[in-house]
Amino acid sequence: MRIDAITIFPEYLQALDLSLIGKAARDGLISVHRHDLRTWTHDRHRTVDDSPLGGGAGMVMKPEPWAEAFAAVIAEGRDELGADARPLIVFPNPAGRVFRQDLAQEWSAREWIVFACGRYEGIDERVYEHLADEGHEVALVSLGDYVLNGGEVAVLALTEAIVRLVPGVVGNAASLVEESHSDGMLEYPLYTRPARWTDPSGAVREAPEILLSGDHGRIAAWRAVRSAERTQQRRPDLWDARG
Ligand code: ADE
Repeated sequence: MRIDAITIFPEYLQALDLSLIGKAARDGLISVHRHDLRTWTHDRHRTVDDSPLGGGAGMVMKPEPWAEAFAAVIAEGRDELGADARPLIVFPNPAGRVFRQDLAQEWSAREWIVFACGRYEGIDERVYEHLADEGHEVALVSLGDYVLNGGEVAVLALTEAIVRLVPGVVGNAASLVEESHSDGMLEYPLYTRPARWTDPSGAVREAPEILLSGDHGRIAAWRAVRSAERTQQRRPDLWDARG
């Protein structure tokens, strides 16, 4: 999978070199390309924003650098992937569709994703129209119902959620099957050794005995009940939406 990210803060995305995503890149499972939007400005101040037409607070990202950036980044990607390669262009945006595990799963099979990080109040609307008219697949996604200062933090989260589902990235694929949200439910509670733990206040805390029984059928049934209880209590919205 090829990932491009266009941003005015490429350093923000250096975290993609770390940990699991960094290892996936070193192993050749993904490639990550960060681009500074200001590369495609032509004035002395490398301006990417201007005041909103019609008035209002804050600044809006200008369309010209974005159009040039997409043309250059898509050409570069096609040099690598072939002239027929088609990117999915993703704009993190609080007004987008809320990103969930099913979308992470779907996008983990993509050959190529281009993330575009907006800042300030947002990007000139004509950029989206231009990309759609060029025949590109464009998606706006939100991390949740709150506002960040820009798309960079969202790109870190989206990339991690997507890339860990790319086959071979997570060593033990079984761990992806049982985790929260993989089946629309929250994961059951987890325990490890010591089975009997004295906490700092002196209270003795035992792990559930059934987990020591070696009876895999009963353990699976116990976990399914805990998972259902937890989902009902913490996320009634998920519980009500289960199929
Ligand atoms: N940019 C600003 N706020 C955002 C959010 N909630 N999700 C994704 N991108 C954003």
